[in-house]
Amino acid sequence: MKKITIIGAGSVGSTCANVIAQKDLAREVVLLDVKEGLAEGKALDIWQTSSILHFNTRVTGSTNDYLKTKGSGIIVITSGVPRKPGMSREDLIKTNAAIVKEVTEKAIKYSPDAIIIVVSNPLDVMTYAAYLAANKSHKKIFGMAGILDTGRYKAFIADALNVSPEDIHALLLGGHGDTMVPLPRYTSINGIPVTELLSQDVIDKIVERTRKGGGELVNLIGTSAWYAPGAAVAQMVEAIVDDERRIFPVCAYLTGEFGLKDIYLGVPVMLGAGGVEEIIEISLNEEEQKLLKTSAESVREVMKVLDDLKLF
Ligand code: LAC
Repeated sequence: MKKITIIGAGSVGSTCANVIAQKDLAREVVLLDVKEGLAEGKALDIWQTSSILHFNTRVTGSTNDYLKTKGSGIIVITSGVPRKPGMSREDLIKTNAAIVKEVTEKAIKYSPDAIIIVVSNPLDVMTYAAYLAANKSHKKIFGMAGILDTGRYKAFIADALNVSPEDIHALLLGGHGDTMVPLPRYTSINGIPVTELLSQDVIDKIVERTRKGGGELVNLIGTSAWYAPGAAVAQMVEAIVDDERRIFPVCAYLTGEFGLKDIYLGVPVMLGAGGVEEIIEISLNEEEQKLLKTSAESVREVMKVLDDLKLF
């Protein structure tokens, strides 16, 4: 791909740029931030690793000059304030909704055909806000959360079993919040159901730790995580750039799937060059359906807050 833009040169945005560059996924990665010099500095630092880490993707930075982002094939939006200890992702909505609206409108002006990946929190509703701001097909606007959340879930399972995390396959549904729905029934270790290898009690604890996985890191670091979020976005970018048609949990717009519509929520998606190529409607048991409904309801509560802000 010719150009990928990452808006927000904070820890998530710059980590994302770094991983995308190391995977050589584009001719150029443009990192953009409102803070004078921040994006230029981080881009320069990453670019100076190119000969050491062997990549050609040119990483450039810009202080809020959207002209530099012109013609991007993918735009990643990481802008906004991160969580501090004691805050929920939902506490961020007032600040971040206005920011996400503004950056989406500016970015789409110069790259009308771009696929947009939203990373700002509260994730599901910020993805919805970008969708409203961009006014384009929902197949090309979606959010990153599921790969991060399953990444955490897989790491905990790998620890519990002392096996390679690479052999763990898992799905997760719902909003990127404490109501997310990890799916042990759809979790296997190279085909072996996780329920064969771990007791229900251990699985329950892992599910609970996954749900609160972001908060665990906020409490440890004092702000929200960036290595796994940045790498997770890069994996989505790779699936799009190489038209891999990989299946990931993605925050996608629903039009009746899982009995839900007019909402952005985490669901299994086939990701390819066109963005969301397909939403895969897996069957859920009664308990899983109930949990997904609760998660959707909690996302709708935050959508109401967005409505009340009257930004759109
Ligand atoms: C997390 C933030 C990025 O889950 O939402 O770490």
